[in-house]
Amino acid sequence: MNKINIAIDGPAGAGKSTVAKLVATRLEFIYIDTGAMYRALTYKAFQNKIDFHDEEELNLLLKDTNIQLTSAGKVYLDGEDVSEQIRSQEVTNSVSFVAAHSSVRHEMLVRQQNMAQSGGTVMDGRDIGTAVLPNAEVKVFLSATVEERARRRYEENQAKGIPTDFEQLKDEIALRDKRDSERATAPLKKADDAIEIDTTQLSIEQVVASILEIVAGRT
Ligand code: CDP
Ligand code: CDP
Repeated sequence: MNKINIAIDGPAGAGKSTVAKLVATRLEFIYIDTGAMYRALTYKAFQNKIDFHDEEELNLLLKDTNIQLTSAGKVYLDGEDVSEQIRSQEVTNSVSFVAAHSSVRHEMLVRQQNMAQSGGTVMDGRDIGTAVLPNAEVKVFLSATVEERARRRYEENQAKGIPTDFEQLKDEIALRDKRDSERATAPLKKADDAIEIDTTQLSIEQVVASILEIVAGRT
């Protein structure tokens, strides 16, 4: 198969990472979780007590930061495995502030474009189809109602034994989506040439099958 790039964007809980990982495995492509990169920087900013609104400090911090994503889905920050820590509630609720700064986004974009330069990637995030890989051969925008996305996250938390208030979780998701959609630089947005899949009523397998069908049509 040709080494194409596949861009998958959408709001929190739309199923991007679950589906992107499966598509990558089926195609023997590399999965790139760009959200994990913003989360890793946010985690490091917490450790270094850097204000999330201080763009200059955050950008300096990022320039001095190594983020590695492994094929097994692990995230290494300056050589340390932070895969668990970057999913904390604290990081989740702050990451969209860090990700709003244009200089931070520019540095991330350069790194992400380098990762995809040889093709053969499935990259998920918010601005992949619009900014990072505007020439990706396949662009998909996954959506689902906020109720359904909150329900999915709630079930994940239940399975992990994390006590969760459903309404609060739903509000937090809606707020993060709003910040991601309203920022000035590379907001969460469907690319004009992306195919939207509303996953509200779909199983993971159905979404994976739809994407593989789109890929087959393009290659
Ligand atoms: O997994 P979940 O959908 O909760 O979020 P994520 O993909 O891990 O992304 C976390 C946050 O990083 C998002 O809410 C955005 O603020 C930011 N992000 C971004 O701005 N651009 C990307 N390409 C990916 C993530
Ligand atoms: O990466 P993103 O935030 O878009 O979502 P995710 O972390 O891949 O998916 C959130 C949860 O929804 C996971 O527990 C998935 O198993 C579940 N899911 C689902 O139930 N049905 C789908 N069609 C897609 C995801």
